[in-house]
Amino acid sequence: MRFYFAPLEGISGFVVRNAFAHHFPYMDRYFTPFIPAAKRMNKKILRDLDLQNNQGITLVPQLIGNQAGEFLDMAGKLADMGFSCVNLNLGCPSGTVVSKKRGAGLLAYPGELDQFLGEIMEKCPIAVSVKTRIGMETEEEWDILCGIFAKYPFEEVIIHPRVRADFYQNKPRLAAFAKAVEKISVPLCYNGDIETVEDYRKITELFPTVDRIMIGRGLLANPGLVGEILGKPKASKTQIGAWHDEILEGCLVLFPGERDVVFHMKEIWFYLIRFFPEKERLLKQMKKCQSLTEYRLIVQQIIS
Ligand SMILES: Cc1cc2nc3c(=O)[nH]c(=O)nc-3n(C[C@H](O)[C@H](O)[C@H](O)COP(=O)(O)O)c2cc1C
Repeated sequence: MRFYFAPLEGISGFVVRNAFAHHFPYMDRYFTPFIPAAKRMNKKILRDLDLQNNQGITLVPQLIGNQAGEFLDMAGKLADMGFSCVNLNLGCPSGTVVSKKRGAGLLAYPGELDQFLGEIMEKCPIAVSVKTRIGMETEEEWDILCGIFAKYPFEEVIIHPRVRADFYQNKPRLAAFAKAVEKISVPLCYNGDIETVEDYRKITELFPTVDRIMIGRGLLANPGLVGEILGKPKASKTQIGAWHDEILEGCLVLFPGERDVVFHMKEIWFYLIRFFPEKERLLKQMKKCQSLTEYRLIVQQIIS
């Protein structure tokens, strides 16, 4: 089985990726948070992609967009930087993204999607993979979309089997994923709600031909999850502490002010607190805290 760390905008930058690679080195691939294809490669994007910042990490850049010219332009730059694959985001449910027919928004226009895919697949200088939801409003949309995805020689198709209207609610729609297994011949990757070894077992038993799994939130809630799946012991508090400290130190170098660092770390704790269920009452305190000193004290109370 191959394990992929899901792109998590605002969280899974190179600092977090490195902390995984150093403390829980079980991931086969990491994906960058989405990069707008319409944008220029600014300093922040370049820093996140820099091979120096991603040593020992197999990184796949993810683009979001709906204009073939922009996508190909950006893919060309990624090729020049040494990347051999680019991922297309067709899943982002955010209102501002969807309203521009990007992310999951493009799924509502199968004709335009097909044309866009046709053009990028014909001209892209590097391999293309997609990460998609199964529709905008209802599961019925998946039949047509699945037929479109089945036409192209993608490197792989990563499916988060929810529709956009689900956002992160409801359960992954496994019948839709099963349809993809039937119809799409390129490698398929399952993504969605894998939070325990049991969840992993259930999915792999249901879909024995699937040889790649992507996990996002489950890895923030339990950074050692893939290790556990591979038969290693549950991560210790010391390991989690070391992983956390590497992220904190990295953020202190990266962000201009302590408040930005605390804000970033709180986003991780929104998930990580589940590793410490007996300390959940401290999350409220964490949410209110503004200073680094206070933050460190709360973390000490949670982890010790
Ligand atoms: C905070 C957050 C940010 C995300 N950012 C991205 C992103 O940049 N690109 C993307 O394809 N998916 C993004 N996703 C979706 C995840 O990659 C993943 O598909 C989703 O969380 C379901 O997987 P999980 O249940 O294992 O977390 C994001 C999800 C969350 C919660």
